Amino acid sequence: MIRIIGFESSCDETAVAVVEQNEDGKLTILSNVVASQVDTHRLYGGVVPEIASRAHTEAISALTYQALEEANLSPKDLNAVAVTSHPGLIGALLVAVNFAKSFALAHGLPIYGVDHMRAHVAAAFLAERAPEFPFLAITVSGGHTSLYAVASPSESRLVGSTRDDAIGEAFDKVGRLLGLPYPAGAAFDALAKEGFVEATGEADAAKALALFPKCDFYRDIAYRLPSPALHDGSLDFSFSGLKTAAVNLMHHVKQKNETLPASLFAARYTYEAVSAIARQAEAALLQYNLPAIVLCGGVAANSHLQNALRAICKKHKRDFFVPPLSLCGDNGAMVAAEGCFAYQYATPDTCGLNASAAD
Ligand code: KG4
Ligand code: ZN
Repeated sequence: MIRIIGFESSCDETAVAVVEQNEDGKLTILSNVVASQVDTHRLYGGVVPEIASRAHTEAISALTYQALEEANLSPKDLNAVAVTSHPGLIGALLVAVNFAKSFALAHGLPIYGVDHMRAHVAAAFLAERAPEFPFLAITVSGGHTSLYAVASPSESRLVGSTRDDAIGEAFDKVGRLLGLPYPAGAAFDALAKEGFVEATGEADAAKALALFPKCDFYRDIAYRLPSPALHDGSLDFSFSGLKTAAVNLMHHVKQKNETLPASLFAARYTYEAVSAIARQAEAALLQYNLPAIVLCGGVAANSHLQNALRAICKKHKRDFFVPPLSLCGDNGAMVAAEGCFAYQYATPDTCGLNASAAD
């Protein structure tokens, strides 16, 4: 039995959690506390790094006491400390990295700096039904859109990624122009659902998504948007083309004094975004002969993306995993879960552990 405390401060959530791993490898969350700064950053329409760092500094000590109290543990009951050390906002990352190093030093515990995106993948192991290796991990968040062929907790290979913007960024930017509050992902998801139902007359969202390319609105070339899936033999993406085309289209409609059909447009935008992920994921599953998809990261919460990938998995008889909704966004439990893997397969970091903004 091992127990790991995980710290996360890479963006706009300060999070601390304790996760236990039993002899069979099963992970259980003992506590998982988050202080979200979303309301603060919403005033500015996006994350203000300086404000994020200060808010992490204010929140992290109290959250640590709370996480230990809720787990009913003291630091001596822990085996190790895990902290997101990269990638992310550098000032924000430094808060948890320094706090975790002090905590580890004070309590004589080993420390592991973990990769934020690998931690998102580890979140899938906290679900009731955990995946088995190997699998195709699809990591989709505010800053990442990547496909990994994952062979084991310590071996993964990047097989596709965005060459510019991330899918979450693409939802947030266009969502903001549609008047949705930051971060726009969840509201965009709901608006697109209305659009899929309206365009197809089908109330079931998964069926509506499948019928969408046959509907009249999809045939209207005035609302045509490019696919973010690159057709150059790679499994890569370009989300900036989709985003720019949508922004231009919205300006065009405004210039002509017309009204944008917001929900239909959100559906069309979402359709292109999720179909691109599904297309490259399908190619990756077959090319690398992988038996399952693990969808993770903040955008994994997107219901249409889940529906599109479930359909691909059903078609090819592959398994599909996604963490529970509460663990898709940034949290400490995923960091502690990745810490459980690191504790068994990696060498601990030293007190020289530093944060890095880059991947
Ligand atoms: O992983 P995450 O919490 O933070 C980063 O590591 O970036 O991901 C945040 C992103 C934001 O862009 C947010 O709009 C998006 O996840 N998101 C969604 C949904 N819920 C959150 N995007 C699409 N549909 C959703 N339901
Ligand atoms: Zn994240």
